[in-house]
Amino acid sequence: MAKTRFTRGKLLAAAAPLAAIPIAGKLALGDSATAGGHDHSSHAHQRSLATHERGAMGHAAMFGAEVPAVGGPNDLDALLYPPAALPYQPGRVREYRLTATDIELEVAPGVFFPAWVYNGTAPGPVIRATEGDRLRVTFVNAGSHPHTIHFHGIHPTNMDGVFEVVEPGGRFTYEFEAKPAGLHLYHCHATPLKKHIHKGLYGAFIVDPKEPRPPAQELVMVMNGFDTDADGGNNFYTVNGRSFYYARYPIRVKRSELVRIYLANLTEFDLINSFHLHADFFRYQPTGTGDHWEYTDTVMQCQGQRGVLEIEFSNTGTFMFHAHQSEFAELGWMGFFEVVD
Ligand code: CU
Ligand code: CU
Repeated sequence: MAKTRFTRGKLLAAAAPLAAIPIAGKLALGDSATAGGHDHSSHAHQRSLATHERGAMGHAAMFGAEVPAVGGPNDLDALLYPPAALPYQPGRVREYRLTATDIELEVAPGVFFPAWVYNGTAPGPVIRATEGDRLRVTFVNAGSHPHTIHFHGIHPTNMDGVFEVVEPGGRFTYEFEAKPAGLHLYHCHATPLKKHIHKGLYGAFIVDPKEPRPPAQELVMVMNGFDTDADGGNNFYTVNGRSFYYARYPIRVKRSELVRIYLANLTEFDLINSFHLHADFFRYQPTGTGDHWEYTDTVMQCQGQRGVLEIEFSNTGTFMFHAHQSEFAELGWMGFFEVVD
């Protein structure tokens, strides 16, 4: 498939992807985007072109089959639905294996990103343990650069993923007690750090409290971005790795039943990211720890921040969610909940 490269400016100028209609496996906006440079006049020109092209689709929110998003309806299930929480049991060992590789990720139709990933996706797999479990993570570096895994949480410093740099072909076993309870994360900590993170080496790390949280429909959303033209700025924004994926495939949940979302921000380059829900409010527990809950419809997170959202939807219907940085939303970070009885 043809590889397409856009600059952030060109994409925004084209009001992508409202104007993006897949043509022969390629985004239509690519044709107008390749015509202009970086100056404002050509942006204006592209914007009028894009507005003209957009006429066929109108200004309604993109939803369902019309949406240019990569893949089938269950492709991201392993990232969206975490492994089940296990009740506390003294002395248990939880084992995971993470393998770093270099791959080309298709983050939007026809748009590829030369990524470095754990277990084939960016974000990597959800790691989950109960507070007090012994966590054993075998890390295999099958990539072309030195990497590590740095976990957030409380652990001995020789398990911190900073000092042991695992060379290509090497391996390292991280082992420590999972604590404290909360939503944490993991990411590569080799230098240059910015590069190793934006390339895709990160994921969510859930530590369940010994006293379990109430049963819920649980979801994981890791916010990230992809710099597909290597200019030091993101061209696409996503949750769980594919732009507009949850606009094409809305997330189905049940009304009046507890929905719990583990939300983390691993977006590089941009100072903050955010989550905004339409037409309802949720409770937000920063870092998934402590007694402090906020009641809101919008939260923002710096890179590395994360938290737990809980909501029982009051109504059925289609509920939009997206970054409240409009630019991020228009570059892929938006989706829908389909709330049913
Ligand atoms: Cu790395
Ligand atoms: Cu970190």
